[in-house]
Amino acid sequence: MAQAKLNVDASKFDLPVVKATQGPDGIMVSSLANDGFVTLDPGFLTTAQCESKITFIDGKNSVLLYRGYPIEQLCEQSDFLEVAWLLRHGELPSRAEYDRFCADLNHRTMVGEDFRSFMASFPRAAQPMSVLASAINALAAFYPDTTDITDPGKLDEASRIIMAKARTIVSYIYRRRRDEPMLYPDVARGYVDDFLRMCFAVPYEPYESDDLSIHALGRLLIIHADHEQNCSTSVVRIAGSAHANLYSAIAAGVNALSGPLHGGANEAVLRQLEVIRDSGESVASFVEDAKRNGTRISGFGHRVYKCHDPRAEVAKHYLQELMARGDVDDRLPADERALFDIATQLEDIATHDDYFVSRHLYPNVDFYTGLLYRIIGFEPAMFTPLFALGRIPGWIAQYREMLADPGTRIGRPRQVYTGRTRRDYVPMDQR
Ligand code: ACO
Repeated sequence: MAQAKLNVDASKFDLPVVKATQGPDGIMVSSLANDGFVTLDPGFLTTAQCESKITFIDGKNSVLLYRGYPIEQLCEQSDFLEVAWLLRHGELPSRAEYDRFCADLNHRTMVGEDFRSFMASFPRAAQPMSVLASAINALAAFYPDTTDITDPGKLDEASRIIMAKARTIVSYIYRRRRDEPMLYPDVARGYVDDFLRMCFAVPYEPYESDDLSIHALGRLLIIHADHEQNCSTSVVRIAGSAHANLYSAIAAGVNALSGPLHGGANEAVLRQLEVIRDSGESVASFVEDAKRNGTRISGFGHRVYKCHDPRAEVAKHYLQELMARGDVDDRLPADERALFDIATQLEDIATHDDYFVSRHLYPNVDFYTGLLYRIIGFEPAMFTPLFALGRIPGWIAQYREMLADPGTRIGRPRQVYTGRTRRDYVPMDQR
């Protein structure tokens, strides 16, 4: 085994190196704790928290592989449920496995009447990610027989319940905001098709989703399905390392994803475009102001991609397809169509501006997905729940890999303490 050597003053340490199949090898530093040192790495820029076989990212070369398969190929030839299976099991399913998986999910898509009442008890204007996290967490209370994570059968069932019901829950969040009745699932339709119906159908009228929207939303779910050890996935793993059940760990992931620096960026992008439109300011001066003030422009930059985000390329492609379809005027009012022009200008200016180029700040996936969700018919507040819907298979796969890994220990980072040393309490009248 390769070894790294570390010298701290007179102390010398030999640290084992874990070989990667692709990407950086890992220097195992755990033994340093026995010698009075910790490693300090704010934001975990260079800290791997686990070995994983699920997703590989090469941020310098725009590569994203799920279990070795490039997302471009999966977007072209696969579908979301097959990708969910792949992430969890490591191999593509046989026809029989795939059919069985789809049937298993279909038969768990409905939620009970008490759960519907629970969903109806949230205020209509509630923040959708708060409702989603609460609803996923509440599944543990509604299906308590599936929370024992030491029983593989129960863990399988919890995985199926979350995968199946998340779609229904997200559609309920959407409809409730609009004071519309929550619809029952229709097992005769595909996963994405039925999701769109549950969101957009008028209950007393037949509903047909259009093929391009079904296809585009299916691709968005695929490109969001996993992204190795990002903020929300790390939260899922750390919660799970304490043996929090799958529902609780995924609810924790939903909460982490809600932040505007993470999954919430797709909504932030749309809000930012609205601010530019409403200010009457030119896009160029908005960019100059942001550079001068050190404000971050939502939808640009990524911790890992220092080149094009391959997910952004897929999202951009489908955005262009939907825009080219010719019915944009029917789908969006004029003031919203203006946002698409502003986005094009912003992309053009930022991708040529030395500030962004020199810092490798490219448009990320969130720059395009909000616009895509909008043209499919969703309001900005729903964008991050849609991201979460796509990410659920990844969270499940990562949680299960964490649990199965004999090397897993409870996630408990250390710190370098820089506060006051020991001192004595001063009574209040002497301060
Ligand atoms: N706009 C302007 N400047 C930026 C941006 C941005 N969006 N992002 C980074 N920078 C600048 C930083 O100010 C810094 O400049 P400096 O070197 O002069 O100090 C430099 O670029 C490097 O930034 P870091 O902070 O090192 O980048 P980090 O990897 O920590 O952050 C992040 C990545 C959080 C995504 C950041 O780029 C950002 O805030 N982007 C906007 C929010 C966003 O779009 N998030 C979605 C990410 S994708 C996802 O979660 C699916």
